[in-house]
Amino acid sequence: MIQIAVLGYGTVGSGVVEVINTNHSSINKKAGEEINIKYVLDLRDFPGDTIQEKIVHDYNVILNDPEVRIVVEVMGGVEPAYTYTKQALLAGKSVCTSNKELVARHGAELLEIARERNINYLFEASCGGGIPIIRPLNSSLTADEIDEITGILNGTTNYILTCMFQEGAEFDVVLKRAQELGYAERNPEADVEGYDACRKIAILSSLAFGQQVDYEDIYTEGITGITAADILYAKKLGMSIKLLAYSKKEGNCFYAMVAPALLGPNDPLYSVNGVFNAIFVHGNVLGDAMFYGSGAGKLPTASAVVSDVVDEAKHLHRSIMSFWSSQKLELTDISHSRKPFFVRAKGELSRDLPKVQEIFGPVTPVTVEGTQGEFGFVTEVISEAEYQEKAEKLGTVISRIRVRTV
Ligand code: NDP
Ligand code: HSE
Repeated sequence: MIQIAVLGYGTVGSGVVEVINTNHSSINKKAGEEINIKYVLDLRDFPGDTIQEKIVHDYNVILNDPEVRIVVEVMGGVEPAYTYTKQALLAGKSVCTSNKELVARHGAELLEIARERNINYLFEASCGGGIPIIRPLNSSLTADEIDEITGILNGTTNYILTCMFQEGAEFDVVLKRAQELGYAERNPEADVEGYDACRKIAILSSLAFGQQVDYEDIYTEGITGITAADILYAKKLGMSIKLLAYSKKEGNCFYAMVAPALLGPNDPLYSVNGVFNAIFVHGNVLGDAMFYGSGAGKLPTASAVVSDVVDEAKHLHRSIMSFWSSQKLELTDISHSRKPFFVRAKGELSRDLPKVQEIFGPVTPVTVEGTQGEFGFVTEVISEAEYQEKAEKLGTVISRIRVRTV
C-alpha cells in the first residue's frame, strides 16, 4: 500500500479525494499498488465529511511520517506551498501539484531536488486543467524541436468570453458564475488580467525549450478591456475573441505573449468555447498537434493530479521528468513580432479612411450597427513597433486587438 497526503481540501483537493474514492480499484490496478489517503492537511475542520478523521493541521505530522511516499500539494499560493514541497522532496517524498504559480516560479529548482533523489515532482494539472499536456511534452514529443506553443490556457476567461459572445452576458455576472463553478483563482484578477495564462505558458515554454522562461518577462494583457462593441465587430468579421498565450521560436529569437486575439473560423482554436482549453503545438518534424479538453474545475483538474499520483507510485525510485534547466532563456522584445491588428478609431469611415490608409497602407474597413462616432479596420501584417508608431500618428485609436493568422 502506498500512503499519500493531500495538502489543501478545497476545490481541487476535495476532487482528488473524490476521484481516488470513485475509481479506487482501477487506479490501484494502474498504480500497481493500493493508493491510500492517510492525511488531509487543511486550516479548517470538516465535521460530517468522511475525510474528517484524516484531517491534520500540523504539516510536520505528514513530513515526519515515513509511510507517506507521495504528497499532493493543492493548497495554491507560493508560501507555505514552496517550503512544504521542498521539505517533502528533501525528505524523499515525491510531490505532485496543480499549483502553477509555484511551478512557474520554482519548478526548475524543485525538479532538480527531485532528480537528485530519484523521486518525482509532477505538475500535469498546472496547465490546461484536465488536458494531458505536460506528459506529452515530457515523454511523447521527444523526437521534435518544438517551435511553437499557442494555447487557450485559462478556463475562466474562455468561459467569460464565450458567455459574453454567445449570450451577450455582462462581464461581472459571468465572472461570478465562473467563481461559483470553481474555475477561478482565489484572486480572480490572476485569471482576468492574464497572469494565470502567463504562468502556464512560462511552464510549457520552459519544458518545451529546456530553459527557464521567467513569467515576469512575458508581455501580458488580460480580457478586462474587451467590450460589447469589440464583440459586435468580431461577429461582423466572422471571428471569435480568445485570450491566447503563445511562445514561438523564430530563428534564434524566442517570443512569448499573452493577449486577447481575433481568430478566424479556419483556426483550430476558433471554436474552443466555455471552460474548455486547447493547446496547439508545432514541432519541426511532427508538424501540428492539438490537445483539447476541460481547462478548469474540480474533477477534470483532480483527474490530472491523480494521474501524477499514479505515475509517482509506479516510479517510486526513478525520476521521470525531462530536463528544465534553471538557466534563463532570454526572450526577444515583442516589438519585432508581426501580425495584423484590428483597430477601432474615432471618427467616420467615409471621411477618415483616406488618412487611415495614408498611415497604415491597405486596410480592411469594418463598421457595425450599435456603435456611434467610430469605425474599425484590420491592418496588413505589421510589427508591434510599427503598429505603435502608426497608431500614435493617427491619434484617434480607441482600442486594438491582435489578429491571429494561420
Ligand atoms: P481552493 O482555495 O478551493 O483550495 C485551497 C485549500 O487549501 C483551501 O481549503 C484552503 O483552506 C487550503 N489551504 C490554504 N493554505 C493552507 C495552509 N497553509 N495549510 C493548510 N491548508 C491550506 O483552491 P483550488 O482548489 O481551486 O486550487 C488549488 C490549487 O490548484 C491552486 O494553485 C490553483 O491555482 C490550482 N488549480 C485550480 C484549478 C481549479 O479549477 N480550481 C485548476 C487547476 C489548478 P482555506 O479555504 O481555509 O483557506
Ligand atoms: N483559474 C484557472 C482557470 C484554473 O480558470 O483556468 C485552472 O488552472
